[in-house]
Amino acid sequence: MRLERTLNELGQAAMQKALQSDAPPVIRRASDPKHGDFQLNGVLPLAKQMKKAPRELAVPVAEALSAMDGVEKAEVAGPGFINLTMSKEWLARQLDGDVQDVARDGVHTVAERTRIVIDFSGPNIAKQMHVGHLRSTILGAALVEMLRFVGHEVIGDNHLGDWGTQFGLLIVGMRTFGDEAALEANAITELERVYKLASAKAKEDTTFADAARAELAKLQSGDPENRATWARFVATTRKSLDEVYAKLGVTFDEWLGESAYDSMLAGVIDELVNKGVAREDQGALCVFFEDDPELSKVETPFIVRKKDGAALYATTDIATLMYRRDKFHASESLYVVDARQALHFKQLFATARKLGIEMKMEHVGFGSILGTDGKPLKTRDGVSVTLASLLDEAETRAAARIREEGLDVPEDELLKVASAVGIGAVKYADLRQNRVSDYQFDWDKMISFKGNAGPYMQYAYARIASIFRKGEIDPLDANGKLSLTEPTEVSLAKELLRFGDVVHHAAETHQPHLICDHLYSIARLFSAFYEACPVLKSTDSVRESRIALCSLTLRQLRRGLHLLGLQVVERM
Ligand code: ARG
Repeated sequence: MRLERTLNELGQAAMQKALQSDAPPVIRRASDPKHGDFQLNGVLPLAKQMKKAPRELAVPVAEALSAMDGVEKAEVAGPGFINLTMSKEWLARQLDGDVQDVARDGVHTVAERTRIVIDFSGPNIAKQMHVGHLRSTILGAALVEMLRFVGHEVIGDNHLGDWGTQFGLLIVGMRTFGDEAALEANAITELERVYKLASAKAKEDTTFADAARAELAKLQSGDPENRATWARFVATTRKSLDEVYAKLGVTFDEWLGESAYDSMLAGVIDELVNKGVAREDQGALCVFFEDDPELSKVETPFIVRKKDGAALYATTDIATLMYRRDKFHASESLYVVDARQALHFKQLFATARKLGIEMKMEHVGFGSILGTDGKPLKTRDGVSVTLASLLDEAETRAAARIREEGLDVPEDELLKVASAVGIGAVKYADLRQNRVSDYQFDWDKMISFKGNAGPYMQYAYARIASIFRKGEIDPLDANGKLSLTEPTEVSLAKELLRFGDVVHHAAETHQPHLICDHLYSIARLFSAFYEACPVLKSTDSVRESRIALCSLTLRQLRRGLHLLGLQVVERM
């Protein structure tokens, strides 16, 4: 349902009729539901512009609204806004369409389809994927689903950190300290161990450091042996990463790591120089932003070539943008990356604009995950929590909670359900937050069957699914006409009506938490409705209507949870 558009049209018609004005009606949800469902605020700015008393203008608009189909009440209030209450019949009629729309549950598609690359996850070779990458992975995957569902063409790309100066140290390090079997078994852990030893040794042993530099140079100039060693590091690491992604149920359309752009870097440097975008400063090649009010205040320029001639993360990111423009013909590039890289992306986008790259670029930043003590999440021994161990723990804890709650999960399904609930809990805890804020990682709040948490949503879903099982009804056939009489039915219906707008808003502003909020509120309103209104025991058209309400609630929960990357459980 495009509720906002429908209401906007209504408001526009009223302002046109009463004031012959094309000014936007500015419709909002009522701040206090006691006064109505919506508020029309557009008269206030218009009155200011026309130098008239707002209430004087509002009165005829309210009158025009009152005369319109579906409007139960329109009253002028406060300084001159209009409180709007829609009739139950109108609500029911609007929602009927969503009930029938089994393919999309009332979510329309965008008028203009664009091609969007979403850059997410991006872990680094030889470094544990940590909880920071977890946020990127979970958020990125949700954004892929959401933007795709509203109708965009989306390419999910894992910009793996698989290139850079660390490979010199890793190659000599592996020769000196490496354990081949350990590399096969758990590449990330082994490479991380070797890297630490090698970088420590390089600090005190210049021959070792020189050897590392020599191996790096060989690798970069395409030496087949070093290339092969590097490729093995990447392949074995991918094996470990794939286990984590499989557990999370996350996939990518592309795996274009930093190494994929290596051959483009020299051309990028040339273009930066030729277009006068970059210039040398103390031996390094840099982009300065003297003309940018914000970036000119920053001390550090955007360095695209170091003094020793090496290209950097920044250079690769410029090449990546060009690739996305030329090869993917993408019109948008989103980066789901820790907010601490904000400056990097501001400088990257400004550089791209200087180069004439016409693309919508956005850094979809996010805050940190903290422990319950408010400090960055650590395990007891002080090592940053690894993602794999964290996900295992989520499953174990979920199984225990399911047993404690005495939920109806047969023993042979426990593992499967615990995985859906545990992994779902971790994802939901992350997604329900406004992404820019830090949040505390709290197992008890996360794996909870009460409150705004993943398990509660899955439980709410399973409860509604059980109604359909009991009644032997297919929720997709439940397309009876709605008639809303009880207050709890009306409240639920009003919220269900917002789903389409919520999904679009969430997708456009890259804020999955808006979907979480919606799901939480329909789950609660459904509880109230189900307590007050018998469904299967009622009869005739009332029964049909209530079954339709149950069906749409069930489907919105399912759809919403899928968009967020959570599995639903039919029975628990
Ligand atoms: N590998 C980077 C890191 O761990 C993230 C990559 C983000 N994507 C990008 N195109 N810069 O910080």
